[in-house]
Amino acid sequence: MKPVKVGLLGLGTVGTGVVRIVEGHQEDLSSQVGSPIIIEKVSVKNLEKARSIEIEQSKLTEDPWEVIRDPEIDVIVEVMGGVEQTKKYILEALDRGKHIVTANKDLMALYGAEIMAKALEEQCDVFYEASVAGGIPIIRTLIEGFSSDRIVKIMGIVNGTTNYILSKMSQEDASYEDVLKEAQELGYAEADPTADVEGLDAARKMVILGSLGFRTNVELSDVDVRGISGVSKEDIAYAKKLGYEMKLLGIADRQDDEFSVSVQPTMVKKSHPIAAVNGVFNAVYVHGEAVGETMFYGAGAGEMPTATSVVADLVAVVKNLKLGVNGLKAMVPFKQKKLKTDEQ
Ligand code: NDP
Ligand code: HSE
Repeated sequence: MKPVKVGLLGLGTVGTGVVRIVEGHQEDLSSQVGSPIIIEKVSVKNLEKARSIEIEQSKLTEDPWEVIRDPEIDVIVEVMGGVEQTKKYILEALDRGKHIVTANKDLMALYGAEIMAKALEEQCDVFYEASVAGGIPIIRTLIEGFSSDRIVKIMGIVNGTTNYILSKMSQEDASYEDVLKEAQELGYAEADPTADVEGLDAARKMVILGSLGFRTNVELSDVDVRGISGVSKEDIAYAKKLGYEMKLLGIADRQDDEFSVSVQPTMVKKSHPIAAVNGVFNAVYVHGEAVGETMFYGAGAGEMPTATSVVADLVAVVKNLKLGVNGLKAMVPFKQKKLKTDEQ
């Protein structure tokens, strides 16, 4: 029963939840995987910052490379955010044979194909369930649950911050600025909330969902994006009067081999189940040719729901470690698009 050692990059909203679950559910986790799971080292930006959990000071470092290069560490859990530098950490960790769990949709939407190719080469796992829709296991569902089907449409609310803002503006007559501040305080918003309110965060998530659902490589430039910063209280009140709720919807549609992906504020008829999704909750509707219509609902952001997905990925990595099948049962997709030059 050799312990599995984890290196955690980031101890903010999500990282804190990861520590809480790994420590609080240790007995249950280790009984599932047959080994204790130990958080060995944690990188943060500021060692002096007050933390809401107790953690041995000797485990903390301000240098993520110290975590990546620690030979004792089997799995890296990346919950620090960032793209270019973070990609370097992930690729180096894979080079060193470490498995990855990440909640980073910015990274996966931009470099998912490259990272998965490297993971396959190194026979390592890269799991990223928390990158879309927080606590809803939608990525596993698309890859495994619907592997038998041909998905024709994915639609939903995939950003908790903007749904929190729109719901509060609709239900409580609250001001945009006040509710955004609340969402930041609750840990829902990105470090720079522009990505939430301008629809970019949702667009990145739709890139991931579209790539997995349609089994192709959807790129950010394929997504038509509009956020909620231009939506006024009057727009919301007017929509309500007409029997609609204003929601920021991501829509990915496939027709034959063509697909279209968009993110935009949309008036949703009150009778539609998506209109009743309020606060930080997300909902993803998936329509498959064989299965028909399905819908998945749950908290889309926040410490514990997001950490639930991160730790579930960690459990999956450790189970694969025990079976010696890492990299073989990876959440593979992100296929490269067929290029014109491939056809010559
Ligand atoms: P936070 O800003 O709360 O935490 C980020 C953590 O990373 C902090 O501990 C910070 O250190 C550390 N950090 C940041 N930059 C550096 C750096 N350059 N070097 C070392 N450490 C660094 O972010 P969240 O926890 O909210 O989000 C983390 C990731 O999870 C992001 O990719 C986000 O998009 C994703 N995510 C977040 C969700 C949420 O609900 N918050 C939901 C789903 C995904 P310090 O503590 O010292 O400041
Ligand atoms: N900022 C994101 C949101 C976090 O509000 O949905 C979850 O990915």
